[in-house]
Amino acid sequence: MYQVTFQPSGKTIDIDGETTLREAAHRAGVDVHDRCGGNGSCCNCVVTVLEGAPNICEKTIVEEAVFYMDKDDRLSCQCRIHGDVVLRVD
Ligand code: FES
Repeated sequence: MYQVTFQPSGKTIDIDGETTLREAAHRAGVDVHDRCGGNGSCCNCVVTVLEGAPNICEKTIVEEAVFYMDKDDRLSCQCRIHGDVVLRVD
């Protein structure tokens, strides 16, 4: 069991097992602007990792292709988590 926290709302959810950041956001009631339904084509679901980057998978090929993301930004639908993380959702 681990925790995913979304800032600036401060909403936190407990997760049991591996999941995507997008799914964790849905369970917490946080909108990550996932306009394409999570298939990696809209690139709107960007979140910024504030803490816990080692608890997230390596960047996917889809994420590496999005040139405007900063190094701490991730596409929430593309990355899987397995430990505590704190994220900023703008
Ligand atoms: S939901 Fe569209 S790229 Fe993530």
